[in-house]
Amino acid sequence: MKLAASVQQVTKEYVLDGETVRALRGVTLEVPEGDYVAVMGASGSGKSTLLNLLGCLDRPTSGKLLLGEDDVSQLSDDRLSEIRASRIGFIFQSYNLIPQLTVLENIQVPLYYQGRLTARERDRCHELAGMVGLADRLKHRPTQLSGGQQQRVAIARSLVNDPYFILADEPTGNLDSVTTEEILGLLDALNEAGKTIIMVTHEDDVGARAKRIIRLRDGNVLSDARQQQKRKAVIRH
Ligand SMILES: Nc1ncnc2c1ncn2[C@@H]1O[C@H](COP(=O)(O)OP(=O)(O)O)[C@@H](O)[C@H]1O
Ligand SMILES: [Mg+2]
Repeated sequence: MKLAASVQQVTKEYVLDGETVRALRGVTLEVPEGDYVAVMGASGSGKSTLLNLLGCLDRPTSGKLLLGEDDVSQLSDDRLSEIRASRIGFIFQSYNLIPQLTVLENIQVPLYYQGRLTARERDRCHELAGMVGLADRLKHRPTQLSGGQQQRVAIARSLVNDPYFILADEPTGNLDSVTTEEILGLLDALNEAGKTIIMVTHEDDVGARAKRIIRLRDGNVLSDARQQQKRKAVIRH
């Protein structure tokens, strides 16, 4: 079984005003390709810290962190940001789209990092826009879209780089219940299609959609449990 991520005895300490905060105290977990993980826990338990490490926004204080087969625990800032830009798909609560760019351009953003787009990459961006149901909105700008549509753009953008996994930080935190259902349905379908998803949420009914729930408490893994097989999702084109 191939691993999308392997976290081995990872600690993270922050020093703030001379005091050391132990945000992660030795976390070990493996995420196989195709998994769908919800990371849950009280405020301050270390969820964001863990997500930041997986997203190469930061480095562990100690321990080992592998993405695929690549050890990212000791990389330079430059290499970390290269990996972040080219191999991690992020979805945020606040969408984080670029307001001046169109839907299609926003989806293409992670590819600009590597220079000019090839014809094949352009086709792929069109395809992804269609997959998230925005084929007829390619020239719209983020302000001309609903919250759910903006999150769809972010999901398409998260996929352009063939990421190790999609990292979603409270992806439905700003959405109403109907739109939340739509977005969770889309994530279900992507997972069915083989994409690995790691999501932070504090909502039980959102976490219930994942295959596995990892609960953190005070920087430790409190529990790590697979859930009963949920109902199959259908990809809608
Ligand atoms: N940049 C930072 N500097 C100092 N302490 C931090 C920093 N980021 C997080 N912390 C502390 O680390 C602990 C875990 O925080 P965090 O990972 O944000 O938890 P969660 O996302 O579960 O709310 C908390 O005690 C928090 O105050
Ligand atoms: Mg947090």
